[in-house]
Amino acid sequence: MSVVGQGIDRVDGRLKVTGAATYSAEHKLQGLAHAVMVLSTIPKGRVEAIDITAANAMPGVLAVMTHANAPRLALPQGSEKKKEGGEQSKPDQKKQPPNPKLSLLQDDVVWYNAQPVAVVIADTFEHARDAAQRLQVRYRRERAQLDFAQAKKSLRRPEPQPERPSDTGRGNLARSMERAASRIDVTYTTPMENHNPIEPHATIAHWQGDNLILYDSTQNVTGVQRTAASTFGIAPQQVRVICPFVGGGFGCKGSVWSHVVLAAMAAKLAGRPVKLVLDRPQMYGPVGARPLTEQRLALGASRAGKLAAVRHDTISSTAFLDDFAEPCTAMTRKMYASDSLQTSQRLATLNVGVPTYMRAPGESSGSFALESAMDELAYKLNMDPVQLRLANYADKDPEKDLPWSSKSLRECYRIAAERFGWDKRNPQPRSMKSGRTLVGWGMATATYPANRKDARATATLLPDGSAVVRSGSHDLGTGTYTVMSQIAADALGMPVANIRFQLGDTALPEAPVSGGSQTVASVGPAVHQAARALRDKLIGMALADGASPLHGLRADEVDAADGWLVARSAPARRERMQALLARAGGQPVSADAHAEPGEEKKRYAMHAFGAVFVEVHIDPDVGTIRIPRIVGAYGVGRVMNRKTAHSQLMGGIVWGMGMGLMEKTEMDWRFGRAVNANLADYHVPVNADIGAIDIVMVDEEDKQINELGAKGVGEIGITGVAAAIANAVYHATGKRIRDLPITPDKVLV
Ligand code: MOS
Repeated sequence: MSVVGQGIDRVDGRLKVTGAATYSAEHKLQGLAHAVMVLSTIPKGRVEAIDITAANAMPGVLAVMTHANAPRLALPQGSEKKKEGGEQSKPDQKKQPPNPKLSLLQDDVVWYNAQPVAVVIADTFEHARDAAQRLQVRYRRERAQLDFAQAKKSLRRPEPQPERPSDTGRGNLARSMERAASRIDVTYTTPMENHNPIEPHATIAHWQGDNLILYDSTQNVTGVQRTAASTFGIAPQQVRVICPFVGGGFGCKGSVWSHVVLAAMAAKLAGRPVKLVLDRPQMYGPVGARPLTEQRLALGASRAGKLAAVRHDTISSTAFLDDFAEPCTAMTRKMYASDSLQTSQRLATLNVGVPTYMRAPGESSGSFALESAMDELAYKLNMDPVQLRLANYADKDPEKDLPWSSKSLRECYRIAAERFGWDKRNPQPRSMKSGRTLVGWGMATATYPANRKDARATATLLPDGSAVVRSGSHDLGTGTYTVMSQIAADALGMPVANIRFQLGDTALPEAPVSGGSQTVASVGPAVHQAARALRDKLIGMALADGASPLHGLRADEVDAADGWLVARSAPARRERMQALLARAGGQPVSADAHAEPGEEKKRYAMHAFGAVFVEVHIDPDVGTIRIPRIVGAYGVGRVMNRKTAHSQLMGGIVWGMGMGLMEKTEMDWRFGRAVNANLADYHVPVNADIGAIDIVMVDEEDKQINELGAKGVGEIGITGVAAAIANAVYHATGKRIRDLPITPDKVLV
């Protein structure tokens, strides 16, 4: 009986609910000092002076680190701006840290509001915070670019990355658009959003001579190791990064931000280990955000709804320090089988913190535009929105002209529509009411790429008969500990309870960043192969061991189950793995694996797909929107754990509700600073906002992506939800809202 697939409880659940799980800020170190960052209060200019005398004299203060006294890093000094006056150029990248988005107190230049300009180090957190709050920083302010409309006048192309071209095209768009019987051409906007994992960023830095240990809340221990090493000019082996638990990541912990290096610099300066934890307001600026987007969608279709022309132009905000392009057009290039298509990605540069990945970067904002536009087209054609999507169903990847490794989207539409009761929908806007409440039904398509990278793992049988399986991956709350234990249990033939999975440490075999929904598809095969190799090794030992009841059998005549090695044909002929190990000298036995994706990506296009249906209830007088129910059906490959996968999809859907109705970083654009930088004013759904969420994972096994058949579930849940809500709001009210979030004021206007 396979344990993979079963919805077993989290193996780390007890540790978490009892508070025994050690998060990054909770590691106890001798002589630990506390650091608090001071962030700039201007969006652009210079730090003229920081008076550290008063702060230094305050109780418990060990040091105040500014650009004047910060340890010089192993990089070219300074990033003096060549151009003076109003014109802004990007910083000279050659003079920047290896990671240009970092602000490491190597010069006095301020590029955005809330950029680190000083770090106060003290014996207690309270002392550090007190001194940080009193630190007087004098600035010379320069003119900042904080006007998106103005910034759009000098758009730039992002550096093309693999799978992220800035411009694409196929067919003759102009001609197809011209000939289309029905056309729409509309613009959608999405706001800046900030990550709000319950655990903020936190780092403890501990130097042991020239070796650095970092306890860091991260989705990528190896990435932190590499950046720290190159920044300090030491070898990666001299840096160890430890992160057994993460209290949510969602992309903001997928790369390294300034505070990680600053903590290590502070530890150097103070000559003690230093803990640096961001407070909630500090999460808004120096550690990334989802950039705001403006997306123009033009669709042309035949009377029967066949798409002939699709055009999607995205502008997203970026920063002067470094670029990040929100890849909104990625989904559009693959979603529908249109004859012609044209997409573009452009950047508008602002004096803000560098944006970054946020759950389903690209697909979340992009699906709002594309799937809203499809709904607008459906209304224009007087066609059912599900039918319109089926009429344009892409049986292969229209971008690469490759077959899908698996695609169950037709089934997702059918199952979700059925469970929702879509056939009872009267498509006429404002036609469905419940008393005075306006009722709206809307739907959208969900999708996210099925990514995979290479990963390593080790499996070890211990003398007590338990197994330790290791891979330097991460558990962001997603269920990695649990799922990897399940995979190892099946492959090794051992109960889950006897397996301990270790992750989150650069001392372990290397695994990729836990982002892009790729952990199961990447680390899963490594764990599977390592556990399988260990099992085979044990069987080999038994066959060769004259004292084993299995001696003399062939390897294929022996099975492993429940911690026993068993003769297939005569189950009474068996022995415990533990007994075998004891006779062999009682030493642990290990096996390694390095699992790499092969050529399959060249032969197949790999995506997860889904369909999401939403009901909204709107008060016609005050414009409040309630979502009593959502139905989503998803094809995500073979599901490793029903319960944790369900939670991932549900979490994504809930976030999609926030994106649709609430989330927005409210900037005071005079200063480029977020004014709702706290969980009271930055609105996300709470329990009372959530109605029934019905999630179906359709039976699907992807035979191409990996031997487990698993795609990924981390990000697809958020995609499509905001569009489905917007489409339901239109159905309820007759108002097409193309600007997220859909707040009551927009419904009433
Ligand atoms: Mo995710 S936004 O790829 O961590």
